[in-house]
Amino acid sequence: MTSEVKNNIVIEKTAHSKLSQADFSHLVFGKLFSDHMLVADYIDGKWQTPKIMPYQPLPYEPSAKVFHYGQAVFEGMKAYKDVNGQVFLFRPEENFKRMNNSAKRLGMPPIPEAYFLQGIKELVKLDKDWIPTGPGESLYIRPVYIATENAVAASPSNSYRFMVMTSPAGKYYSGDVKVKVEDKFSRACDGGVGYAKAAGNYAAQFYPTEKAKKEGFQQIIWTDAREHKYLEEAGTMNIFFRIGDKLLTAPTVPQSSRILPGVTRKSIIQLAEDNGVEVEVRPIEINEIIEAAQNDNLKEIFGAGTAATVLPISGIKYKDFYTDLPQLKDSYAERFKKMLMDIQYNRTDDPYGWRVPVL
Ligand code: COI
Repeated sequence: MTSEVKNNIVIEKTAHSKLSQADFSHLVFGKLFSDHMLVADYIDGKWQTPKIMPYQPLPYEPSAKVFHYGQAVFEGMKAYKDVNGQVFLFRPEENFKRMNNSAKRLGMPPIPEAYFLQGIKELVKLDKDWIPTGPGESLYIRPVYIATENAVAASPSNSYRFMVMTSPAGKYYSGDVKVKVEDKFSRACDGGVGYAKAAGNYAAQFYPTEKAKKEGFQQIIWTDAREHKYLEEAGTMNIFFRIGDKLLTAPTVPQSSRILPGVTRKSIIQLAEDNGVEVEVRPIEINEIIEAAQNDNLKEIFGAGTAATVLPISGIKYKDFYTDLPQLKDSYAERFKKMLMDIQYNRTDDPYGWRVPVL
């Protein structure tokens, strides 16, 4: 193993790269991990020097607080390689800000900006050969931040670890995605942790989502916990509705504390507005979606998220109501997905400064 220090990060390179054994022709999302990971520990009120080291299991005791109280937050980002082999991140400062907003809500100390932004750049540089280049493929980047104190006491931890791993990735969803509007279980409530990328938010969705899958729906659209009347998000994605020529999506922070403020969502809103599409960011009632469907005015529903990118929904169910969505030739989903990906993969100008070069 060789070791060097770059931008105040200790880098220990693996002597046993797994790259030659990796099967890039059958990429299953989130199953294959690159050679290295970034770790930075917070101990006794101080951040220690970050380190990039070979991807490996963690050294924690069963009493570590993360296992008991779920004091853990994470992020999802991607690195993209263009046709000339140049590598880019997409709006990484948005993920940095969101990670620290999530951490604050869970009583965790802020992660230093350089650890996050510079750390991720160095990690991606080191594992750049792991970035797949097939259509729609990228290197998924998963920062995660956990409580590591050994103590079975329900209080904030006095030690933490920030880590980043990367994973060559293709599609998150494959095939048709139909959604069920959930009218019993809830994902988030006012004043809760819905806006944070808290690990427990995802576990709490698994049971209702598995039930929906058994009924033939791949995802749930969550409704507000109070009335189960307003459409919120899909758990792995924010959600957009096209009624006529207008796009509708639910508000996030500061108007609503229940919905994750997605980076893809924010980018799609900007692209749509700058391309002459009216976007209404406001609470959306299930009844207006049903009415629009009955009047042939519901043109599209699509999800937007880092893992999923932009995902057209093919059908929606609410109680006894079900409708397929029309298959449009020039859909907003396809149009804005292409615009977004052209920026991400450096196929077009980036008037917004969203692309951040890594190499
Ligand atoms: C992402 O879109 O990156 C997410 O973090 C969602 C995740 C559950 C795959």
